[in-house]
Amino acid sequence: MQLRSYSAADEAAVIALWQACGLTRPWNDPKRDIERKLTEQPELFLVGELEGRVVATAMIGYDGHRGWVYYVAVEPALQGHGYGRTLMARAEELLVARGCPKINLLVRQGNDAVMAFYEKLGYGADAAVSLGKRLIPDN
Ligand SMILES: CC(C)(COP(=O)(O)OP(=O)(O)OC[C@H]1O[C@@H](n2cnc3c(N)ncnc32)[C@H](O)[C@@H]1OP(=O)(O)O)[C@@H](O)C(=O)NCCC(=O)NCCS
Repeated sequence: MQLRSYSAADEAAVIALWQACGLTRPWNDPKRDIERKLTEQPELFLVGELEGRVVATAMIGYDGHRGWVYYVAVEPALQGHGYGRTLMARAEELLVARGCPKINLLVRQGNDAVMAFYEKLGYGADAAVSLGKRLIPDN
């Protein structure tokens, strides 16, 4: 799998991948999420390509204190072949290269299957509760 930064031509394939992976939600317009990411550290929006096809994504950011990763996805038919591990390793490398001391990510309630994946990669639950407040509605 070749990892590179997102480019505009990837939009439809990326959104289709997120839908296939169950990552889209009615309150997050994926097109707007992509547009917003392209305004901040666009080079950290990674896509994984296999034979010219988008098969993986990770939307990474460093806010000066923590690194975050969203939209971690590998095409369902290709899961379990190490692509997710490769993707997260690159995310970590890019963050460390920027001096980021810690990476955080959110796992939605009910997405229990993914917990084993992150545990294998050395991630653990923080003693913290994630609070959020929507500032700009998408719908
Ligand atoms: C989570 C996801 C990105 C993992 O990608 P992947 O390519 O299947 O993962 P890998 O093949 O690199 O797996 C890495 C390790 O985690 C383990 N693992 C992965 N998924 C697992 C699962 N569901 N249960 C148990 N172990 C799992 C693998 O066995 C592997 O272990 P090993 O290296 O010791 O053999 C992928 O399953 C996915 O896109 N899921 C749907 C979207 C999603 O939920 N994203 C996360 C949002 S927080």
